[in-house]
Amino acid sequence: MSDFIPVLELDLLMAESSQLVTVKGCGILLCQSGGEVFAVDPICTHQRESLAGGRIRRGHVSCPLHGARFNLRTGEPVGQLTRVPLKTYEVQVESGVIAIKVE
Ligand code: FES
Repeated sequence: MSDFIPVLELDLLMAESSQLVTVKGCGILLCQSGGEVFAVDPICTHQRESLAGGRIRRGHVSCPLHGARFNLRTGEPVGQLTRVPLKTYEVQVESGVIAIKVE
């Protein structure tokens, strides 16, 4: 069964930034870019580096280690370093609270 689980107040997620949260024991990276909130797996699919702290810009997150970029909406990578997308999660914002849908 899938449910939306409240994870963070929207006010705590700054524009063009990210925050790592733990939901049901799994790390998920919340990102805000262009006024939208996204949720993706926090581990780069190139060489398993954490994406927490990676630059958020124009709907993408950049890996701090080698710079692979991933589309926050689709998880798809940009460039040649990896062809494996990040897992993405559905996001809902209600009453100033970010909730994500997890299995
Ligand atoms: S580990 Fe992320 S780009 Fe290499």
